[in-house]
Amino acid sequence: MPDKECLPLHVLVVGASLRRDSLNNQLAGLAASAVKSDGATVDLTTIADFDCPFYDGDVEAESGIPDGAKEFCRRLKKSDALMISSPEYNASFSGALKNLIDWVSRFRPQPFNGKQVLLMSASPAMAGGNRGVWSLRVPLEHLGARVYPDMFSLAQAHEAFAADGRIANDMLRKRFDDTVDCFLDLVEAAKRYPTLKKQWVEFLGERPDAAIDRVESSEVTAA
Ligand code: FNR
Repeated sequence: MPDKECLPLHVLVVGASLRRDSLNNQLAGLAASAVKSDGATVDLTTIADFDCPFYDGDVEAESGIPDGAKEFCRRLKKSDALMISSPEYNASFSGALKNLIDWVSRFRPQPFNGKQVLLMSASPAMAGGNRGVWSLRVPLEHLGARVYPDMFSLAQAHEAFAADGRIANDMLRKRFDDTVDCFLDLVEAAKRYPTLKKQWVEFLGERPDAAIDRVESSEVTAA
């Protein structure tokens, strides 16, 4: 990307594990480095920064949306794209991340709408936590996020990193960097042509009913 006339990009990169020695948070760190190498700016963080109680409609009615979700929303709105590396637990993505998505989905404008997203995972297993990122597509796409078709799942991740923290296998490291590079090209194109995305309708085929419709017809604007 640096050799082209590109719009400046800012990317929120989230490691979605609460564990201190998390493989996913390490992979998120590598993604942040790759983003920087492409000339974009990065907000690298982990889900621990967005602590929220379990979603409860009564809590929302009495106390509003919690600070952790507000902080995530603020940083998401400032970003042109979101990258998440999520652990796979029991063939799905992490419960802490689902809880955060549920809280953040309560803001209006709904901040996932139209956001470009790249999903990653890391696991000691052979599939690299890939089932987790497939399941993570569902709520994000439901909320109007533009989830990139390719997803990077680092298999046998407990043995995949070299001493310097990078992916040890040269070809795999190139695949990872290329994936980030191609994703950022799309993010840049989407930023250049913002009118590509016009609306989000939660259930497109339902008979319109103003009392229950969740519809947004304008772009999410920066904070
Ligand atoms: C796991 N793990 C796991 N791994 C996997 O590939 N598929 C799975 O379905 C599961 N299920 C699962 C359930 C539970 C409750 C735990 C605690 C763990 C293993 C998991 O991928 C591994 O612990 C990772 O290291 C977790 O990610 P972080 O914390 O290293 O980022």
